[in-house]
Amino acid sequence: MNPRILLVIISCVLSVLTGLVLSRGGGAGSTARTRPLIGLSMDTLKEERWQKDRDLFVAEAGKLGADVEVLSANSSDTRQLADVEALITRKVDALVIIPKDAAAMAKAVNLAHQANIPVLAYDRLITGCDLDLYITFDNVKVGELQAQFLADRLPSTGKMRLLRIYGAKTDNNAKLFKQGQDNVLQPLIAAGKVEVMHEDWADDWKPENAKKIINAAITKHGPNFDAILASNDGTAGGAIQALTEEGIAGKVIVTGQDADLAACQRIVQGTQTMTIYKPLHLLSKQAAALAVRLAQRRPIIARDVSANGQTDVPSVFLPIHSVTKDNLRDTVVKDGLVTEKDVFGR
Ligand code: GAL
Repeated sequence: MNPRILLVIISCVLSVLTGLVLSRGGGAGSTARTRPLIGLSMDTLKEERWQKDRDLFVAEAGKLGADVEVLSANSSDTRQLADVEALITRKVDALVIIPKDAAAMAKAVNLAHQANIPVLAYDRLITGCDLDLYITFDNVKVGELQAQFLADRLPSTGKMRLLRIYGAKTDNNAKLFKQGQDNVLQPLIAAGKVEVMHEDWADDWKPENAKKIINAAITKHGPNFDAILASNDGTAGGAIQALTEEGIAGKVIVTGQDADLAACQRIVQGTQTMTIYKPLHLLSKQAAALAVRLAQRRPIIARDVSANGQTDVPSVFLPIHSVTKDNLRDTVVKDGLVTEKDVFGR
């Protein structure tokens, strides 16, 4: 056969093949990597739990033969969007996002989809977009368990005088925690068994903002309250600083969430009363498995959905546990989230 004709045929075949690959979104990354590359865009590494989430997720993805590029936005929306754009430019095969602002990250999801990159939201939902997948804990139940802890400790006479610290308004989880708390508290408030003396949202979940909320409450009401419903351990820590300055730490019930080390130590000392344990090893393990499947364009099974204002996002919800000084050893120490020595000092 005339070599020139042969050449034309080969190049035609090649261009058809390339076209096919691009149209399918490239399977394991349009760069046909041997190991999937996952982009992990984090809001912050400020709280202890996020450092653990990062390390556990990277390790689990590694066990599944995938690499992870981690970028943390230090609580800046602009920075997080730039991080996601950088990961898209890196042609990651799947994106995992822990959004600072649930709504602001919709733009990130749309940009990823324009590049044929699927997106998994980790722990916190992204709203107002065609999000592919969501994995988290039962966040409404977090709030219910926190409030039920107070409901089980109402004063024998009179009513419980309560202060409430919500999380960051930009975080969809903060609203779900509050919703769960309200589910339990509303009937008690209506029955006059609980009175909310003061309540506010702690911007960026910052402990110093939580401390300001309690300082404002003490300025308004003096130290005359029985409990603080703090939505996580970071804000509980800020609140307890204010109680310590007032000389009433340990005399007021304080809730929390995340079972970070400082909170577990406060629970042993008695200045914090409870926390919510969220098994991060389960979340990170399942999230890594889902992210690798997304990266390889393999089918995903998600039994639940979360309405995010645009679509019903296929979702996975994981269980949580209420922790006090009585079951610290059987929960967070047993699972290795914290050590006996670090918590109990021996
Ligand atoms: C929430 C998360 C909590 C808490 C908080 C502050 O979204 O579910 O575990 O850590 O953020 O980072």
